[in-house]
Amino acid sequence: MVMATQLFSLLEWCLTIMTTKCEKICQDPDGYYVRKIIVDNAVQKGAVCLDGSPPAYHFEPGLGEGVENWIVHLSATNLHFRGARIFEAIMEELLVKGLKNAKNAILAGSSAAGYPTTLYCDHFRGLLTNTPRVKCLIDSGYFIHENNPQQARGFEHIYHALITLHGSAKALPKSCTSKMKPLLLFPKNMPQYIKTPLFIYMSSFDSFQIQTTIDPNLYGFIETRTCNASQKKTLKGTYIIITNYALPKSNNPKLRGSFIDSLNQHTSIQKRWFPENVVTIDNLSAPKAFADWYFDRKHWYIIDKHDMALPKYGTECPLIGGSL
Ligand SMILES: *[C@@H]1O[C@H](CO)[C@@H](O)[C@H](O)[C@H]1NC(C)=O
Ligand SMILES: *[C@@H]1O[C@H](CO)[C@@H](O)[C@H](O)[C@H]1NC(C)=O
Repeated sequence: MVMATQLFSLLEWCLTIMTTKCEKICQDPDGYYVRKIIVDNAVQKGAVCLDGSPPAYHFEPGLGEGVENWIVHLSATNLHFRGARIFEAIMEELLVKGLKNAKNAILAGSSAAGYPTTLYCDHFRGLLTNTPRVKCLIDSGYFIHENNPQQARGFEHIYHALITLHGSAKALPKSCTSKMKPLLLFPKNMPQYIKTPLFIYMSSFDSFQIQTTIDPNLYGFIETRTCNASQKKTLKGTYIIITNYALPKSNNPKLRGSFIDSLNQHTSIQKRWFPENVVTIDNLSAPKAFADWYFDRKHWYIIDKHDMALPKYGTECPLIGGSL
């Protein structure tokens, strides 16, 4: 599994994880525990969770060379992410802890955190003026606005809530605030304004996307390979929308890398980037593709050619997420 080691070395050497959290998460009792740090002084700055509690993050310093390599991972087990202020309060603390001296930095986000990750990507780049390599990774956070308005309603609702509840409109790129705000957050409309390199990892058949905007029952049919003709037609339609219209075009993969599989899954970097169950397309693993792209070895823009959703394989590690 030579391919996977690239990322594992990336993780091992550089692992300095930060995850913003506002709520207790379900920890695997046998898992590796990363201690939680509560940002008490954030409260004075108004950077509080929706229930008034201070924000917290999980932090593990890097070892050896890894001290100068940082991964800031925004996770979203809920929508208690009061965007701007919490992000600022935590970043301030991390910069002092050594992030300002990082050589390599990644801002990553899964699921609903894909939205703040995209939104804050340029800002994160801007904070790290001495860091030669800063890029962002969006894991399953790239939701499509289907042409069918009924199907899209779920996401319009989510994005509208993110904007109004979390006051994130201020953080939107200035060049586009005149546009319709909730729609702006759909992938087709937003990443074009982001100047920092972004890597998009997801499935064309993202199970959360399909359940929310198409049909909650499809999940089971895909897993048991029992989709009927009309379900298959719907899924093929989704594939075409994602691959032909929603994703950034492949003309500048240095700026917009991708690894798009066809699995019935949602969020992978914390659950499926392990040697036992790593996702591959034509023998290229997702971690290897990302590591190559991140270090400018090869700018992958990969889309699995299966235009039909495939059941998941392997076991998923019972870590964070899986849903919003
Ligand atoms: C396909 O299966 C779904 C779910 O069981 C059902 O609602 C639909 O009517 C079926 N369509 C066809 C054409 O059989
Ligand atoms: C993937 O690797 C296996 C084993 O090394 C090999 O047999 C197979 O041909 C490879 N497939 C592709 C698409 O490269």
